[in-house]
Amino acid sequence: ESTPINDHFGRLLKDLRISVIDKCNLRCTYCMPKEIFGKDYPFLHESELLNYEEIVRLATTFAKLGVEKIRITGGEPLMRKDLDQLIAKLTGIPGIRDIALTTNGILLTKMAVKLKEAGLKRVNISLDGIEDDVFKQINGKGVGTLPVLKGIQAAQNAGLQVKINMVAKKGMNESQILPMARHFKGKDIILRYIEFMDVGNHNGWDFKNVISKKEIVDTIHKEFPLEPLEENYYGEVASRYRYKDGGGEIGVISSVTDSFCDTCTRIRLSADGKLYTCLFASDGFNIKEKLRDGLTNGQLDEELTALWGARKDRYSDERAEKKDTKRKKIEMSYIGG
Ligand code: GTP
Ligand code: 5AD
Ligand code: SF4
Ligand code: SF4
Repeated sequence: ESTPINDHFGRLLKDLRISVIDKCNLRCTYCMPKEIFGKDYPFLHESELLNYEEIVRLATTFAKLGVEKIRITGGEPLMRKDLDQLIAKLTGIPGIRDIALTTNGILLTKMAVKLKEAGLKRVNISLDGIEDDVFKQINGKGVGTLPVLKGIQAAQNAGLQVKINMVAKKGMNESQILPMARHFKGKDIILRYIEFMDVGNHNGWDFKNVISKKEIVDTIHKEFPLEPLEENYYGEVASRYRYKDGGGEIGVISSVTDSFCDTCTRIRLSADGKLYTCLFASDGFNIKEKLRDGLTNGQLDEELTALWGARKDRYSDERAEKKDTKRKKIEMSYIGG
């Protein structure tokens, strides 16, 4: 039995996105540029991370407040030790209907089977280009596409459903929009294009680098005719399209040109135990401190209900309304998208 809760605008709380680590084995230029995220970067220390008991306690309480869906992110979540054990525990929480993982895929060759056995159903794998040269430039580590493609294969072999996330950015990978569609079409994989967003403080975001949903859909439609599909679930972030020839579907995530804050049911938990009610929030609510100070389950319930109840975030809408959206923001690698 859960008690659904509403925010200031009446939006229900439905999804919990959990970042389990802020480190990553790649240095994508738009996310963790290596000039900033070098060896002196103050990554979180192990002792600062929430432990698995703490994460499970929070997730269990959130499930009582209506959360049905959990997403594990990072940084690169597969760099957190024994992640499959966390997933196994989360799978057992009453009320949780969907558990997914967002990863760059490289460690899936090692982990896919274990993750599946732990109860994971699906993975979203980031890949911003299918040509080696392009991908090597983007990920800042000179890693080719092969390790990711092997990870994708391992996930499929293990019986995990796969979506691919491709951030599309002008001057970076517009050349890859069609080649990616050609590559993943008909493979039982949903390719999703993501408009380049102004997350974090270091990715040099400029609207002129955004490739809009319309441009993306038009580009693909010319080669492979598309038609729109209904959303899979309330508040799905991706707009869905199917190939008219039966080659499967694609998605476009258009937080910039067509924002979706009015149906945003998501709360985010950072690896060091802060809750954020928006991807673009400046400050988090330190729940770890309270957990470690020994708050009771009843008090935890009250804190979370009050936090969500006060929520007024609608950053992407405000950006579209040309409100002043310049502020300090959390890093993408810290909160996991
Ligand atoms: P599904 O459950 O498979 O639909 O996944 P998802 O699209 O919700 O999650 P994923 O981690 O794959 O994120 C894909 C992209 O959507 C990333 O760029 C996220 O940053 C972005 N995204 C997810 N949720 C939000 C949101 O609430 N606001 C904004 N602006 N972007 C979001
Ligand atoms: N804009 C859009 N998507 C981004 N991601 C990381 N940074 C950005 C950005 N600035 C994507 C990652 C991953 C997902 C969680 O978010 O590539 O697929
Ligand atoms: Fe790592 Fe993903 Fe950020 Fe790339 S986009 S640096 S893979 S967290
Ligand atoms: Fe939700 Fe904030 Fe994204 Fe809007 S910008 S959809 S409120 S996370």
